[in-house]
Amino acid sequence: MRSDLRQNSPAPVSPKPAPLIRAEHIGKSYTAADGNLLPVLQDISLAIEQNASVALLGPSGCGKTTLLHLMAGFLQPDGGQLYYKGKPLGELHPQTGVLFQSPTLFNWLTVEDNVAFGLKRAGLAKAERQARCAGFIRRVGLAGFEKAYPAQLSGGMQQRAALARILVLEPEVLLLDEPFGALDAMTRRNMHKLLFELRKDIPFTTVFITHDVEEAVILAERVVVLSQRPARIIKEVTVPFTPEESLDVDSHAFADIKKQIRTLLEQTE
Ligand SMILES: Nc1ncnc2c1ncn2[C@@H]1O[C@H](COP(=O)(O)OP(=O)(O)OP(=O)(O)O)[C@@H](O)[C@H]1O
Ligand SMILES: [Mg+2]
Repeated sequence: MRSDLRQNSPAPVSPKPAPLIRAEHIGKSYTAADGNLLPVLQDISLAIEQNASVALLGPSGCGKTTLLHLMAGFLQPDGGQLYYKGKPLGELHPQTGVLFQSPTLFNWLTVEDNVAFGLKRAGLAKAERQARCAGFIRRVGLAGFEKAYPAQLSGGMQQRAALARILVLEPEVLLLDEPFGALDAMTRRNMHKLLFELRKDIPFTTVFITHDVEEAVILAERVVVLSQRPARIIKEVTVPFTPEESLDVDSHAFADIKKQIRTLLEQTE
């Protein structure tokens, strides 16, 4: 190409990567105990970019866990389509890890054996397994407790061990279903800080459910507010804070955004 032409031609635009997860017009119903159809999700369309942190907020029983389980590939939608990296979910299996409200650890295994469990199944050699596990156990602040059994840990420590067990497998998406709901305020705050620290080192996409507006504003860049069942998206609220600003829960900006989300939630009642 002539150099004068090259100078005038616009810079090549690299195509925007597909969102990591995309839901298009998702609908989902269950068969209730009385045999009737229970519509739970209605026309949910949502795009979650790579390395984003998105919170799902909505009234109890509206369908949040159902939506998370659809994203994990545990359930199939009745209508609409879920995409993972631009491909229909199912064609491409998502690399997800799910953290539940109560830590899902094997009570008969030590912390290090719990964390190593998935790696062992993946066929990793013992030395590599041990090195990776030790690194993650340290990262979640459980160094010194490698030989402890879950019953010998506090609730927060158990949840950190469960987190290490998931993250050691390097998931692309971490799905969290009210993971810190059972923890006291201080332990919760430490978990929030831990998540920020972990995401600095190892970027991963986070989609989480919480009932706590403050927690949503702290952890999420985007809060998706859902209606009563059958859940539809009422609004998506962008949280324009850096991680440091997010942790400053006493700031005016924080209070404003919390109020905005509370008002939206009140409309769902
Ligand atoms: N397997 C199932 N079979 C039939 N109904 C179900 C099933 N799972 C969930 N439901 C119903 O679907 C609705 C949504 O449930 P879901 O667990 O997704 O709600 P949620 O928003 O996560 O609630 P919560 O905030 O209380 O955890 C509820 O009414 C529940 O009773
Ligand atoms: Mg739920």
